[in-house]
Amino acid sequence: MPEPVIHAENLVKTYRSKGQPEVVAVGGLSFEVAPGESFGLLGPNGAGKSTTMKMIGAVSTRTAGELSILGLDPDRYGPEIRSRLGVVPQQDNLDGELNARENLFIYGRYFGLPAKACHAKADELLAFAQLEDKAKSKVDQLSGGMKRRLTIARGLVNDPRILLLDEPTTGLDPQARHVLWDRLFRLKERGTTLVLTTHYMDEAEQLCDRLIVVDKGRIMAEGSPSALIREYSTREVLEVRFGASRNDEVAPQLQGLGERVEVLPDRILIYAEDGEAVLERVIAEGLEPITSLVRRSSLEDVFLRLTGRSLIE
Ligand SMILES: Nc1ncnc2c1ncn2[C@@H]1O[C@H](COP(=O)(O)OP(=O)(O)OP(=O)(O)O)[C@@H](O)[C@H]1O
Ligand SMILES: [Mg+2]
Repeated sequence: MPEPVIHAENLVKTYRSKGQPEVVAVGGLSFEVAPGESFGLLGPNGAGKSTTMKMIGAVSTRTAGELSILGLDPDRYGPEIRSRLGVVPQQDNLDGELNARENLFIYGRYFGLPAKACHAKADELLAFAQLEDKAKSKVDQLSGGMKRRLTIARGLVNDPRILLLDEPTTGLDPQARHVLWDRLFRLKERGTTLVLTTHYMDEAEQLCDRLIVVDKGRIMAEGSPSALIREYSTREVLEVRFGASRNDEVAPQLQGLGERVEVLPDRILIYAEDGEAVLERVIAEGLEPITSLVRRSSLEDVFLRLTGRSLIE
């Protein structure tokens, strides 16, 4: 592996506030990110994703452990690191009073770029974010997806080696998410290292070369999406619904029909290589599900297997 651009070893962050018990937001994460890689942190609310991103972004100090970004320790080289990173925070923090183009221009000036370069960069990034026709619109008048694209564009003003994206598409509709994914693919093709958090398994599957599954500040598993699915799930899943009142009664009869059975409040999941074959056996047993669906295993199934909980609760 080439020299990693991010190296974290036993990274810990605890929060203390008066009269409150100590919160361990990040409980000892170890991972490395290679140059040009697209690396993900997948986990539910409160897993410690944003806290980790803030430490990588050199805006929050670690409590313990080792952390090096582009070979530099953020405790000592915060400004140098920040100047080489692009950051897309979980909450958009654009200036609502300014228009889209002005937001990009001013951000470039923060980085000390000459005015002429900022104008050129603003135009280039408006095109990249497909926001040319919104250049003069006040940010407050943009849709959620447009704001997200503008925030990503703003994160690219300083031509960063690494772009940190904290939940890039949360709250966006499917079409807006696809537009964003397309933009992120292009960045990846250009060699930008992407580090992103998400609690959408499809986003992680689409964008990440490799990811860590994080829960309660700890790494539960690490690998490429396909390797994780191979390791922790079967090829297919049969989802059957019998109605909330009958699920518990039917579940024991389904044991043994697949490799594993998960009983969720609204449905039962039967893990197997061939879902259709299992469905035939379910029906042969005289059990008539109200609905049935055969699908490929996803990272959601990996998460369920690892934690016993659903990713989006
Ligand atoms: N400034 C803070 N002070 C005290 N506790 C905090 C602070 N920031 C985060 N926490 C706590 O740390 C834990 C991890 O929070 P974090 O924001 O990193 O989670 P997350 O994985 O980003 O979640 P989400 O998906 O909801 O964004 C939570 O228990 C949270 O309440
Ligand atoms: Mg977060």
